[in-house]
Amino acid sequence: MYVVIMAGGSGTRFWPVSRKARPKQLLSIIGDQPMVKATYERIKGLVPDSRIILVVGREHFDETSRLFSGTEVRILAEPQGKNTAPCIGLAARYVEYLAGNAPMVILPADHFVARPAVFRTALMHAVSLSADDRAIFTLGIVPTRPETGYGYIETDPVERNADGVAFHRAKRFVEKPPLHKAEEYLLGGGTYWNAGIFIATSSLLLAEFSEHMPAFHSGLTGLTGFDSDEHAQRLASLYEGIDGISFDYAIMEKTGRTVYVLPCDCGWSDVGSWYSLYETRRAEQDEAGNLAEGDAMLIDCRGSFVMARGNRHVAALGVKGILIVDTEDAVLVADLEKTQEVRKVISGLKDRC
Ligand code: GDD
Ligand code: MG
Repeated sequence: MYVVIMAGGSGTRFWPVSRKARPKQLLSIIGDQPMVKATYERIKGLVPDSRIILVVGREHFDETSRLFSGTEVRILAEPQGKNTAPCIGLAARYVEYLAGNAPMVILPADHFVARPAVFRTALMHAVSLSADDRAIFTLGIVPTRPETGYGYIETDPVERNADGVAFHRAKRFVEKPPLHKAEEYLLGGGTYWNAGIFIATSSLLLAEFSEHMPAFHSGLTGLTGFDSDEHAQRLASLYEGIDGISFDYAIMEKTGRTVYVLPCDCGWSDVGSWYSLYETRRAEQDEAGNLAEGDAMLIDCRGSFVMARGNRHVAALGVKGILIVDTEDAVLVADLEKTQEVRKVISGLKDRC
C-alpha cells in the first residue's frame, strides 16, 4: 500500500498569511505544524515512509523537502499545477513504476481531523476492502451545512460487511453543486460530503485515466526513470499540453466503476476559510467566543478573531464578529462571516499579493 499526499494547491483564502509562495498546506494555522506535516503525522506508521509520496508544485519542492528532511518520504514535483486529476494520474504511474499494482490512499494535504484514530481505522477498512481492484473507495462526511465548495455523494442504503463495517454504494458524485441543490441534500439525508480522499489500486486508477483522459494516460505511460533529466523534460511537455481539471470532475462524476463510501465521523474539516478556522479552533475561544493568537488583546468584544503574526501589538475594542489578521507587511480587517470573499482582496491586489 502507498499513501499519496496531494500538496500542490495554490490557495489564497488565508491571505495575508497565505501567499503564492506559501499556500495553505505549508502554513501552521492549527497547532504548531504546517498542515502538510500534520497530514503526514496523522498517517505515519500505517506504511513505511518510503511508501508515502508527496506531490507538490516545483516552486514548493525545496521548502517541502526541508520540512520532511530526516524522513524517507518521496517527493514528486509537478512542473505546473493542473489540479488534482493530473496529480493523481502521475502518482498512480509512479506507484506502478515502483511497485506494479498496489493499493493507494490519496489524501489532501490541508485538512484538519479532530479524531485521528477514527480516521486511521476508516482508511484501513477501506484499504482492506479495496485490494480486490474492482472498486473505488471514499470516506463520507455527514453534511452540517449547505456548503457549495464541496463535492456531494448520493448513496444507496447502508450495508455492512462480515466484520460489521458500515458502507454505502455511491449512486452519484456531484462536485460543487449550486446552493439550492446543496440545501436539498442537507434536508434529504443519505448524501455525504466528499472528503477528497480516495482509495483504489494503481491499476484501477490508470485504467480510469485511460478511459476518461486517454491522451494524458498515454503520456503517463511514456514516463520512466523518474529521477532522470529526460523524465523532467517529458513531464514538463506532458503537463504543458493538458488542461487543469480536478479528479472529482474528470473521474468521480464519470466513472462506471462501483464506488463505495465509508461514513467517517472523525471530526473532519477542510478549513476552507478564516471563519472555518475560527470554528475549528472553538476550544481556544473564551466564553464570549473570542479567539486571540499572538500579541493580541480583545476587550469587550464578541465572536471575534484576532491573529497577530507581525511584530506589532494588536488590540480590538468593543467589536463583534470581526476578523483582524496582522502580518509583517499586510493587515486584513473583515466581517468574520464574509471571509469566503477574501478572493476579492487577492484580485484587487493582483500580483502584489
Ligand atoms: N500536487 C497537486 N497539484 N496538488 C493539488 C493541486 C495540483 O495541481 N491542486 C490541488 N491540490 C491539492 C491541494 O493542496 C489539496 O490538498 C487537495 O489537492 C485538494 O485540492 P483543493 O483545491 O483544496 O480541492 P477543493 O477543496 O476545491 O475540493 C476537493 O476537496 C473537497 C473537500 O475538501 C474535492 O475533492 C471536493 O469534492 C471535496 O468536497
Ligand atoms: Mg480544499
